[in-house]
Amino acid sequence: MSRAVTLTGIERTFGTDEIIVSKTDPRGIITYANDVFCRVAGYTEADLLGQPHNIIRHPDMPGCVFKLLWDTLHDGREIFAYVLNRARNGDHYWVFAHVTPSFDTAGRIVGYHSNRRVPYPDALPKVQALYAELLAEEKRHRERTVAVSASTTVLVGRLQAAGLTYGQFVFGLSAHTRFGAAA
Ligand SMILES: Cc1cc2nc3c(=O)[nH]c(=O)nc-3n(C[C@H](O)[C@H](O)[C@H](O)COP(=O)(O)O)c2cc1C
Repeated sequence: MSRAVTLTGIERTFGTDEIIVSKTDPRGIITYANDVFCRVAGYTEADLLGQPHNIIRHPDMPGCVFKLLWDTLHDGREIFAYVLNRARNGDHYWVFAHVTPSFDTAGRIVGYHSNRRVPYPDALPKVQALYAELLAEEKRHRERTVAVSASTTVLVGRLQAAGLTYGQFVFGLSAHTRFGAAA
């Protein structure tokens, strides 16, 4: 969480008709990245293949969101999430990601697949406020696992107070997705 990274403060975006795609092995090592991913993140395909997916991790992303992502994937379920990423030169870009496990014919997880669209603008202020609160909670703790556990408690508390599942919460953030709520 304290890793030194260059940030420019400049936001990048991409087309509403474009999809950023990547695939990973079961450990989160990138095995595929499409042209849109390479362009927006500022890497070549050769740069990305074989690298851990946290190569584009932005320091303002709360760790508890990634914990939820991995817990959900390990459980064999899909997850939707708003994610802030860091491009190679330190620019940043927001995505609305749909991440799924891939299974072999025996039902074992053989990797993961993420499709990302440009986020719905009306969702972002709410996501940014929540993530800032979660990150602030994490920064109160030195130990990473303690920090992530504390911010997870805040996130779960927010959901419980609103009476929402995580899927209902995510899909309720934008008027564009409100009626497609996932469980
Ligand atoms: C298919 C897939 C796609 C992912 N996409 C991203 C992404 O776009 N940005 C990101 O920061 N992490 C992404 N992750 C999560 C990373 O593997 C990692 O957990 C996260 O960057 C946090 O890194 P850290 O544990 O080193 O802090 C993805 C993981 C998977 C399995």
